[in-house]
Amino acid sequence: MKVVTITNQKGGTGKTSTALYLTYGLARKGKKVLLIDLDQQADASFSFHVPYRQDETTFQVLTEKTSLKDIIVKVNDDIDLAPASPELAQLDVLLTGKLDPQFILEDNMKDLMGIYDYVVIDKLPSLNMAVLNALTASQSVVVPTQADIYSLKGLKDLASTVNSIKRRSNPELKIDGILISRYNSRTVFTKAITSALEEWH
Ligand SMILES: Nc1ncnc2c1ncn2[C@@H]1O[C@H](COP(=O)(O)OP(=O)(O)O)[C@@H](O)[C@H]1O
Ligand SMILES: [Mg+2]
Repeated sequence: MKVVTITNQKGGTGKTSTALYLTYGLARKGKKVLLIDLDQQADASFSFHVPYRQDETTFQVLTEKTSLKDIIVKVNDDIDLAPASPELAQLDVLLTGKLDPQFILEDNMKDLMGIYDYVVIDKLPSLNMAVLNALTASQSVVVPTQADIYSLKGLKDLASTVNSIKRRSNPELKIDGILISRYNSRTVFTKAITSALEEWH
């Protein structure tokens, strides 16, 4: 089971779109995929158009009210969803003072061994306890970015987050790739940023 977090500390870079397309693409190749939504905006959960209960979401998993396997809903034969709720916004306050709060998701993943080929995690742009849980539970990260200067700046923050997670809670974490979205090869600027990104990687 490979666990991939789609991440970038900048908003609107195509994280949710990438998570959804990756999930559907893997399913088309015959893989069994779980998408875990850790974004309080729940855009990915909404996009699947399947009903789910607000009291059975990743919020209740991360606050240890229930376990991950018990909140999963079926999207189709190959895709399952662990939905998010707006309550995730309160997570950091609720986990204050708890010992090792970044390992809750990883501990819950153990129940899923042998069920899924891939787990894809969609998360929000900022750095909070849900995100630390995602990066601790993942083998790899994929970073959707746009070819602009602020995105380049955002990648520095991301690199330092990945390095600190590697030191503290997940030495195996690796960056599988930077995915440039909304690529426009006609502009000189895009070309310059793209070659800078290739060097960075
Ligand atoms: N390759 C693309 N081309 C055009 N629009 C895109 C592309 N990828 C994403 N979008 C649009 O950009 C917006 C932000 O994308 P989204 O995946 O929600 O980003 P994030 O999850 O990082 O905030 C959405 O409205 C989405 O439909
Ligand atoms: Mg999103």
